[in-house]
Amino acid sequence: MTKKDLARLKRLFLKYVQANRMEDPSEQRNIALKRRHTLSVCRDMGFLCRGEGLNENDSLIARAAALLHDIGRFRQYSDFRTFDDRTSVNHGLLGAEILAKENFFPDGLDRGERALILQAVKYHNAYAIPRLDRRTVFFLKLVRDADKLDIWKVMLEFFAQPEEHRATAAGLGLPEGRGVSLEIIPVVLENRVVPISLVKSLNDYKLLLLSWVFSINFKTTFRLFLRRRYAKALEASLPPGEEVRKAVVHIEDFARSCTFANGPQKEKRT
Ligand SMILES: [Fe+2]
Repeated sequence: MTKKDLARLKRLFLKYVQANRMEDPSEQRNIALKRRHTLSVCRDMGFLCRGEGLNENDSLIARAAALLHDIGRFRQYSDFRTFDDRTSVNHGLLGAEILAKENFFPDGLDRGERALILQAVKYHNAYAIPRLDRRTVFFLKLVRDADKLDIWKVMLEFFAQPEEHRATAAGLGLPEGRGVSLEIIPVVLENRVVPISLVKSLNDYKLLLLSWVFSINFKTTFRLFLRRRYAKALEASLPPGEEVRKAVVHIEDFARSCTFANGPQKEKRT
């Protein structure tokens, strides 16, 4: 892949987003949110590629995958007016379908590279990483990490905004909620990603977002997570309490331990 190929992909992506504009300003906010998110994920992917020492070609492939990872979000929103995959469509699978159909890729692009990007788009939102060859899994992990790095930021901005300015679909229609559901805390303390089935409110959702730390793959991502103080910032938007504090301290300790020698500990699954 060349820099020119990536620049062409970026033009096509922006054109595609433009073609999916919505008339209604509150609906357009959701489209704009995903456009902004995508561009930030590309930027974070740049940090990740440098931090993990990727060569130039691999870094271009990773950035192309980052650019296209959420392409399915635009059709998802225009067809269903939601970003909730559970009630609409799996936006990763949809994205891969769109890319295959809409002729996004330059003719000269290596078939293997095209396949890497398609697989990374297809599975970037899968609950677990599927069995694929090592190189595909490597790019998939990069996209999943870069995606999370920006979602933490997007969601912090979302929680900081007054309700009338929010890109409504980002909150998945969850109610504000008063406290947090206490059954979530032991899940966090066991180094597990909180299942969406336990999430009853936006407060619970904040803990789910933080628990993504247990599915992070690269040291650079842990470092950025800590440097950007995402855990403290999300905690500040949660109701204060001993249990929440315990969970947040645990998450930060975990992230810190993963920036050292042996890399991320394995996520525990039930
Ligand atoms: Fe996504």
